Amino acid sequence: MSLKAIIYKNGEVEILDQLLLPEQSKYIKIKGVEDGWNAIRKMQVRGAPAIAIVGCLSLAVEVQDKNFDHKDSFRQEIEEKLNFLVTARPTAVNMKMAAENLIEMVQTLTDDGTVTVDEMKHRFLAAVENMLEKDTFDNMALGKYGADKILSNTSNGDAVQVLTHCNTGSLATAGYGTALGVIRKLFEQNRLEHVYCTETRPYNQGARLTAYELVHDKIPATLIMDSMVASLFKSRCVSAAIVGADRVAANGDTANKIGTYQIAVLAKYHRVPFYVAAPFTSIDPNIPSGDCITIEERPDREMTHIGDYRIAAEGINCWNPAFDVTPNELITGIITEIGVFEPHELRERAGGRGTGK
Ligand code: MRU
Repeated sequence: MSLKAIIYKNGEVEILDQLLLPEQSKYIKIKGVEDGWNAIRKMQVRGAPAIAIVGCLSLAVEVQDKNFDHKDSFRQEIEEKLNFLVTARPTAVNMKMAAENLIEMVQTLTDDGTVTVDEMKHRFLAAVENMLEKDTFDNMALGKYGADKILSNTSNGDAVQVLTHCNTGSLATAGYGTALGVIRKLFEQNRLEHVYCTETRPYNQGARLTAYELVHDKIPATLIMDSMVASLFKSRCVSAAIVGADRVAANGDTANKIGTYQIAVLAKYHRVPFYVAAPFTSIDPNIPSGDCITIEERPDREMTHIGDYRIAAEGINCWNPAFDVTPNELITGIITEIGVFEPHELRERAGGRGTGK
C-alpha cells in the first residue's frame, strides 16, 4: 500500500502527523482553517504541494456545511481565509498560487449573474478536491519525463545511482512525489541501482521521511550526512542529483531545502547532472529571479536540540534559514509534468500555467 500524507473522504480531512514519523504513524483531523494553518506552520504537514492541498482542503471543510445568503459574503470569506493560509509558510509558492487561482475563480463566479451562491460553493469545493487528484497525476507524468531524461545519458539497459535531498515523495505531495517520483519511476523500470538520501539537517526530512518512504517501498537506498556529498560524488559513480523545489523563479533560479545550493555547486565540480523536479504549481512566473524569494527562518531549537535533548552549547547564536536558492546556471534541467526544460526555457513555458486553470 502506498503512503498517504493526506486523506480526504466524505468531506473530512486527515493528515499523517509528520512530526511523529518514523516512530509513529498517526493521522490527525483537520477541522478547519485554523487547524490547517497550525499544521502547516508546525510542519505536521510539509512539502510545497502538500502544504497547498492541505491549506485549501482545510478551507473546504470549513465552508462545506455553512450557509451563505449572498455570493459576496462567500467570496469575501474565501478570499480572507486563503490569504491567511498563505501566511503560514512564506517560501513555498504553491499555496499562494492556489489562493490566487481560487480567488480569481470565485470573483468570476460572483460577477456571473447566472450562477447561484450554492452553485458557486459547489464549484469551489470541486476545484479544491481536484487539486488532490491532479497533483498525483502530474507527479506520475513528471516521474516518467525525469526517468527518461536521466536514462538518456546512460548506455542502454544500465542502471543508475542517484542522490536526492530532503523529502519530495508521497509525504510531501498528494502522492508519488516529484524528485522521489522520478526515483520511483526509475525503480519501477528496474533502472535504479541505488539511491543516496541526505539526512537534511536540521529538520531531518531525509533521515526521517525519505528514508521511511524508501524502506517502505523496498527501494535500494543509503542514508548519508549532508556533509558527505562531496565524498560521495568523488568516490561513487553518481549519475544525477535530483531535488524538489519550493519556488522556481521565471529565470529558473530555484528555492529548495537548505543544503540544495551546496549540492548543486558540488555537482557542477564533479560533473554530475543536477535536476530540479517541480510541477508547474511550484513555478512562479511573476518573479524574475531567486533574489525576490523570501526565505523562511525557523526556530533555533531545530538546530540546538534533537527531541528534548540539547546538543548545542548553551548561549551560542543560531541562524536557521529553511531554504536556499540555487542559481539557474547550476541546474541541468527542470523536470515538470509537461517535459524537461533548461532553466532559460522556463519563462515562455510558465506563462499562464498554475494550479490547473
Ligand atoms: O521545509 P519543508 O520540509 O516543507 O521543505 C520541503 C522541500 O524543500 C521540498 O524539497 C519541496 O517542498 C518540494 S516537495 C515536493
